[in-house]
Amino acid sequence: MKRRDFLLTAGAIAGTAGLGAAGLGATGLVSGVGPRKAPMPYDLIVQKARYRFTDQSTLGMVSLLPQAPPPVLVGHQGKPMVLNVRNTLPDYTSMHWHGVRIANAMDGVPYLTQMPIATNETFPYAFTPPDAGTYWYHPHCMTMDQMAHGLTGVLVIKEAKDPGFDADQVINLKDFRLNEEGEFLPSFTGRGAARAGTFGNVVTANWQENPVYDQPAGALLRLRVVNTDTTRIHKLYLTTTDARIIAWDGHPVRDPIALPTALKPVFVGPGQRLDFALRMPDSEGQKIDLMASLPGQPKVMASLRAIGSNLNRNLNALSALSPNPVAHPDLSVAQTHEFVFGWSPDSMIANNGVCGSTGYTFWSINRTPWAGDAATGIGPLAQLELGKSYIFRLRNESPHAHPIHLHGLSFLPLRSNKRRLKRNWTDTALLLRGETVDVALVADNPGDWAFHCHVIEHQKTGLAGYLRVS
Ligand code: C2O
Ligand code: CU
Ligand code: CU
Repeated sequence: MKRRDFLLTAGAIAGTAGLGAAGLGATGLVSGVGPRKAPMPYDLIVQKARYRFTDQSTLGMVSLLPQAPPPVLVGHQGKPMVLNVRNTLPDYTSMHWHGVRIANAMDGVPYLTQMPIATNETFPYAFTPPDAGTYWYHPHCMTMDQMAHGLTGVLVIKEAKDPGFDADQVINLKDFRLNEEGEFLPSFTGRGAARAGTFGNVVTANWQENPVYDQPAGALLRLRVVNTDTTRIHKLYLTTTDARIIAWDGHPVRDPIALPTALKPVFVGPGQRLDFALRMPDSEGQKIDLMASLPGQPKVMASLRAIGSNLNRNLNALSALSPNPVAHPDLSVAQTHEFVFGWSPDSMIANNGVCGSTGYTFWSINRTPWAGDAATGIGPLAQLELGKSYIFRLRNESPHAHPIHLHGLSFLPLRSNKRRLKRNWTDTALLLRGETVDVALVADNPGDWAFHCHVIEHQKTGLAGYLRVS
């Protein structure tokens, strides 16, 4: 199938399947929305951007604007969104809406759900987010280049009912790998890819080292922390106890998570999100820090500084977030599928070099290294029947951690051979070394859904496949 044929077919599928209230009209704009006001479409241009890390400007940054970092996009639960993504880079791209449960044709995975977006082409993404919460977006083609160069942004889906915060602060955690001159170093290394991944050496929050954000004293703040790094598992905590964790990987927590501390930080793997509700300090100038335990010593990732007169608010004034409409799996009838994540056997896979595939394989799922994003002619890892409940046994046979991510569906962790897991909906299960985790879900979204490790070098070297729901 040629790229152009695929675009036409995919468009036709989107039109007939109906994306909630929004159908794709000839122009790609929302039609048939009825009396509800359609949000303005987002016109997003993938482009080279200007950026200056502290003292030196860095060439080769990628954003959706002439500036970096990419913007925080905002949508509303149950309201159609249109995001026209135009590519002005010389390479292919595509855009994926991580964690958002939408129609398969809008999922942004090259060759699986759409053809990649070529230079000067536009792909009209249109969907209605069913869930509120903190999500994010990133390309799913040339990811090792484009994500490492900064094309990772946060997508906030607002609740239908306002939970009552005074302020909202987004923290996008991402490392960059630069040399002394502030130029990008290669983001892929064979040594890293075969181990925990290649780490950046400039560890940032919103592309800055320890940014300070002013927020009203005594205010109720929603702090949305998103790990969009290609490699690093962050271990985080706050320097206040006047806070609670209200959402995990987009969804409101149902199994409470204790507030992390320096001694017991919370692990947030690549792709994962953590929402805090916190109360700002009473007097002007007082700060709360978001801390990361990094090798060596903890680092202040970002600070919130109180300003103005005390709003004197209380965390108990917040209304609880309503659960998102995720179907509960029926464990009594759920069939189990096992997925083993391990080393790649000594075989080379056919690698077509499209979308930034690497030509190496170090990793495998069920003892097979997979060609990843640009896979063609490779079957699904598992076939799931639409509407049925399943348990996945995710077995990590390797000495490295893997944040295992599934597109299009949310799942519930059940148990681990190493620790007690919190039963909170997620799209990314962080498997520790040698850990086996059971998760459960209802396969209620039809399509071919990418299933991969979110350490991008692992994804690109064998640890990526897909599941078919039909
Ligand atoms: Cu966040 Cu397949 O990706
Ligand atoms: Cu995803
Ligand atoms: Cu991995």
